[in-house]
Parts: sequence; C-alpha cells; structure tokens
Amino acid sequence: MKTVSLLAAAAMFAFSMTAGAAVDADAATKALKDNGCTKCHSVDKAKKGPAFKKVAADMKGKADAEAKLTTFLTTGPKVNMGDGTQEEHKALKDPAVVKNLVQFILAQ
Ligand code: HEC
Repeated sequence: MKTVSLLAAAAMFAFSMTAGAAVDADAATKALKDNGCTKCHSVDKAKKGPAFKKVAADMKGKADAEAKLTTFLTTGPKVNMGDGTQEEHKALKDPAVVKNLVQFILAQ
C-alpha cells in the first residue's frame, strides 16, 4: 500500500507541475488588456470588480473553482457594479483563452 500511495503522490505532484507550467502569464495579461478586463479588475487591487488575488483566495480549496470561473466567464451573468446598477459581465468565447485566464486568476 505504501508504494501505491507514494506513486499516487508522485503522479499528483507531476500533474500539478504540468498544470502550473501550462499557465501562460503573458498571454493572460494580454488577454485581460485586449478584452477590457483591466478596466474593472487588477491582480491585487479592487476596482469595480474584485482583485484577482481575492477571487483566488475565495476559490482556494474548492474543487469546482475552475468550472465555476469558466462558466462565469463564458455565460455573461448579471453582476452588481457596486453603484446599485447591474450589468451583464463580459463573456469570452475562445475556450483556450478562457482556460488560460481561469488558471492565471486562480494562481494569484
Ligand atoms: C464593467 C466592469 C467589468 C469588466 C469589463 C470585467 N469585469 Fe469581471 N467582474 C466585474 C464585477 C463588478 C464583478 C463582481 C461580480 C459579483 O461579485 O457579483 C466581477 C467578477 C469577476 C470575477 C469573479 C467571479 C467570481 O465568481 O468570483 C472574475 C474571475 C472576473 N470578473 C474576471 C473578468 C475577466 C477575465 C474580464 C475580461 C474578460 C472581466 N472580468 C471584465 C466587473 C467587470
């Protein structure tokens, strides 16, 4: 049993390394600019929208974090703008861009 759990741990470690390496921070930063996200978000300061550090902290340890953010970023849900108004959140279409952004945000 010991061997098996060691192997499992090694596999998980290898997997998390790969997942970490898969985040393209430059592409994410560019996508945030190109899509106007930076008007309302920054990595470490709250603007109209929450700081991505806060989003990552809120999602920490949640198994469905990636799925939740993916849905959030592709379906354009109504969000509170903080001034009493509601707007549809910006929705993205390219799955590769969304995946990279979600992993980037969760890594903050
Ligand atoms: C017009 C302002 C605005 C723009 C532009 C905008 N957001 Fe947001 N975003 C918000 C607000 C406001 C919230 C908070 C929603 C809430 O808490 O109800 C939010 C929430 C989020 C969240 C947190 C979701 C959660 O469930 O915690 C993420 C991630 C996010 N935005 C990413 C992005 C990305 C990526 C882009 C660009 C494609 C973007 N936002 C563009 C205003 C904006």
